[in-house]
Order: sequence, then structure tokens, then C-alpha cells
Amino acid sequence: LRKVGLFDSLSEEQLEQVLKISQRRAFPPGTVLFGEKEPGTAFYIVLSGSIKLFTRSAAGEEKVLSVAGPGDSFGELALLDGGPRSASAQTLEPSLLLEISSEPFMGLLQAHFDIARGILVELCRRLRQTNEHVNDLTFLDDRTRVLKNLIALANKHGKRDGLFITIHVALNYDELAQMAGVDKRILSDVLRELESRGVLQFGLNEYKLNLSKLRG
Ligand code: CMP
Repeated sequence: LRKVGLFDSLSEEQLEQVLKISQRRAFPPGTVLFGEKEPGTAFYIVLSGSIKLFTRSAAGEEKVLSVAGPGDSFGELALLDGGPRSASAQTLEPSLLLEISSEPFMGLLQAHFDIARGILVELCRRLRQTNEHVNDLTFLDDRTRVLKNLIALANKHGKRDGLFITIHVALNYDELAQMAGVDKRILSDVLRELESRGVLQFGLNEYKLNLSKLRG
């Protein structure tokens, strides 16, 4: 729990209190934790695994907003403003989560300004990221968007090994395309072009970027 950014300023005693009001829950891959537009009942912190946060168009197409990994949290919006869930949440792999129900979550924010500030900082970060994403959709070409999205995933979920960064993420090509905001065919063209230049190797759920070739 100490490794979770939101809680790093808490004392041992305060961490104990957080544990008391939270439930550890293990979920298999593919579990829908909640759906978009449902009322919010709990806040989640990821201890291990990964969770896809996504919305769906009226036609049923998905848009992946983000993938939450260890130390990340989600599900605060509906608790804070009383509105419906702004996105659906689904596990991508076996995941261990800490679940805090609405009332104790609000109590925690009231009792610890550092935690409330941590939530605000996270909301600010997401707003900045969303602005950047809107800019990217408006101003960048498809290829640059794909590459930028891969680099963002590498920064968040990648493991560095010398000149290589390996990203293990259980997203299929459809999901990766939606995340980058490109058509699936364009994604596949760009991935193959990057592969032919030695920038990228990719297989099922794994992408390996060669940093020495990336500059060009
Ligand atoms: P809530 O609306 O309660 O349920 C869905 C959650 O997804 C939301 O809270 C946030 O925690 C998270 N979420 C929504 N939009 C984004 C985004 N653009 N980037 C990262 N996480 C998000």
C-alpha cells in the first residue's frame, strides 16, 4: 500500500485505517467491474494486474481511454460528483484490487487533505492528458499518433532492457487503434512500417521498441 502514490504521505497507523475500510478483491481477466452510465458505488486502487477504462459509441465501438496498472486508481468521478460512471472498467489480466465504498472513500478525503490533494493532482494530470489527446487528434498525422501512443504505453507499462523497451499489454489491435484514434488498417500499416525499419518488433500482447532506431 505504501507504494500507492495516493497514500505515500500516510503513517503506518493511517494506512491500517485505510486497510480497515477497504476490501482486497481478486478478479480474473475479462471481468467487467462496472459499466459506463451506472451509478458509482466504489473507488478502486490497482495492486496488481491491469484494467481497461473505455467508453462505447452508440454503434457499439469501443474507445480505450486508459489502462490502469499497479499503483493507479480509478472510479473517483462518479463518487465525487454523484453522476454516472464516465467509462466502463474491465480487467485485462488477473488483477488484485483494493475496493473502497463510496462513504468511507468520502470520509478518507475529508480526514486526509494529502489524499484529497492526490486525487485532485491525478484529475489535473488526466485533464492535461485529455487536452493533449484532443490536440493530437486535431493536429498530428496518423503515423505520429500511433508512434506517440506506443511511446506513452512504453512510459507507463514498459520495461527497459538496454536499448529496448518491452511493453506487455493485453490490448488487441482494435483497442490499440482506438486508443491512438486511427483506423485499424492504418494501425497495421504503421506497425509493419515500423517493423521493417527495425524500430519495433511485435507479437501477441507484446511490443518491443528499439530506442536507438526511434530517433529517425
Ligand atoms: P468514474 O466515472 O467513477 O468511472 C470510470 C472511471 O474511469 C472514472 O471514474 C475515472 O476514474 C476513469 N477515467 C475516466 N476518464 C478517464 C481518462 N480520460 N483517463 C483516465 N481515466 C479516466
